[in-house]
Amino acid sequence: MTKSLTIARPDDWHLHLRDGAMLQAVLPETARHFGRAIIMPNLVPPVVTHAQAVAYHDRIMAALPSDMTFEPLMTLYLTENTDPDDVAAAHAAGLVKAVKLYPAGATTNSSSGVTNFDKIKPVLAKMAEIGLPLCTHGEVTDHSVDIFDREAVFIDRVLDPIRRENPELKVVMEHITTTTAVDYVKSQDKNLGATITTHHLIINRNHILAGGIKPHYYCLPVAKREEHRIALRAAATSGDARFFLGTDSAPHVDAAKETGCGCAGCFTATNTMALLAHVFEEDGALDKLEGFASKHGPAFYGLPVNRDSLTLVKSDTATSFPEKLTSGDGPVTVFDPGFPIYWDVT
Ligand code: DOR
Ligand code: ZN
Repeated sequence: MTKSLTIARPDDWHLHLRDGAMLQAVLPETARHFGRAIIMPNLVPPVVTHAQAVAYHDRIMAALPSDMTFEPLMTLYLTENTDPDDVAAAHAAGLVKAVKLYPAGATTNSSSGVTNFDKIKPVLAKMAEIGLPLCTHGEVTDHSVDIFDREAVFIDRVLDPIRRENPELKVVMEHITTTTAVDYVKSQDKNLGATITTHHLIINRNHILAGGIKPHYYCLPVAKREEHRIALRAAATSGDARFFLGTDSAPHVDAAKETGCGCAGCFTATNTMALLAHVFEEDGALDKLEGFASKHGPAFYGLPVNRDSLTLVKSDTATSFPEKLTSGDGPVTVFDPGFPIYWDVT
């Protein structure tokens, strides 16, 4: 039995492409299926200024194979010294589509992020005025807060105060992982959206820790209890336009994952669309996949839906995905859902 589903070409509203040899290796994996992606700015050094975003955009386009089309939607990395006028100029030039807030120390390459949230008030006010969205890595970095509670505490201590002070600021809560975040999004009536990753729809914290530690399932925010995964599935498959796909596909070479202090990140670009078809079918919501992957994101960002399409096919034999992606920096493990997938992109 063959089943197929054609949807408007999807976009990825949260993606790590890195730079150099890694960019070269991972970019085709995303461009093969996705029309556009919001590109994370957490390079070393980070993409802070308009000029740095232009240069990074050019490096991405130079790495794109000539037979592929793809539009990188650039972001700026918010620091306590970010100049509101530079942000406004970047927005006016059309290249930069969002500004990314990393609390300092929250995750990979976030040391230039924000510690004193009072210092970013002028830039947030400017962004609200010009309609430029803020993307948030929503975890506090306070060591006294348990890692599994950091998202919920961020909502109370940081996000909600920012939203109250700037009701016109568009905010994306990125890679949400908890019922608290789902409920918060649903409780707000405007200017708030949330991305959900593919892997957080599939794994809970047992997958990381039970029966031996699985470094390739470790990401930030870390996957939570099963009840949270179920809530994320319900939100993603609900058709509610406030929830959309942001894979947070985050490549690290195996040597950086399989070590005493492993990096956070799951690399899902290669098989995300097939995995999502599986997940949405399992939840009886295949008809909602197009909204989640292709329509809700553009609506939030005020962009058109892609004009071309993507077709997914389900067959009787399990799809085989490569276990590793080869990069000039070393092998990168492709996310393994742990069960067979029968869907593939044609
Ligand atoms: O798991 C993650 N990996 N979470 C992040 O926030 C950053 C990302 C990365 O850059 O590797
Ligand atoms: Zn990320």
